[in-house]
Amino acid sequence: MKKHIGVLLSGRGSNSDALAASVAAGRIPNAEISIVVSNRETAQGIEKARARGIEARAIPSKGLEREAYDKLVVAALQEKNVDLVCLAGYMRLLSPYFVAAFPQRILNIHPSLLPAFPGLEPQRQALEHGAKFSGCTVHFVDENLDAGPIMMQAVVPIEDSDTPDTLAERILREEHRIYTEAVRIVLEGRYRLEGRRVLVTKQAREN
Ligand code: GRF
Repeated sequence: MKKHIGVLLSGRGSNSDALAASVAAGRIPNAEISIVVSNRETAQGIEKARARGIEARAIPSKGLEREAYDKLVVAALQEKNVDLVCLAGYMRLLSPYFVAAFPQRILNIHPSLLPAFPGLEPQRQALEHGAKFSGCTVHFVDENLDAGPIMMQAVVPIEDSDTPDTLAERILREEHRIYTEAVRIVLEGRYRLEGRRVLVTKQAREN
């Protein structure tokens, strides 16, 4: 049986598109992206998904309390029997209601080596801090910002000549690569959690 992925985004949607390309190419086997949801109607990611024939919906968040909004999004995901939720440039914190609806089944990608530089503009933060290496992190999502157990990371060296944009571009290439790998492992159940540590295993879990 195919696993159903739901993607949430707010903007450009390159990570969403990279996941879609990986599904289409079989790098994420036995899966489909069943729905893409954006909280912003103008997000380019919506058009990118539709161009691939993926159902994509804008559910505007304006004027709604966090939990009331999350109920709409969770309902849209449940309607599609989503097994795994992938946040891909989704600029909202999830409510405890949302997290409880998909326990250990929400991933996020962040363009820094967490726990360094959570939040906004992490590439600029890394440069301004004087870090010599940055990178990206795929992690499980909890109610806190960029804080859940780390699933996978990739390191990107910072060059003296870097600007936030050039660094972001090199990190983005690694994001697209590791998000695919992480989604595949999670869908195959090839990991176990020991406290905060995510240990990748050869065999799938029993459950
Ligand atoms: C990416 O850098 C992602 O790590 C961060 O927001 C950016 C979204 O880019 N959370 P895109 O919409 O996937 O192109």
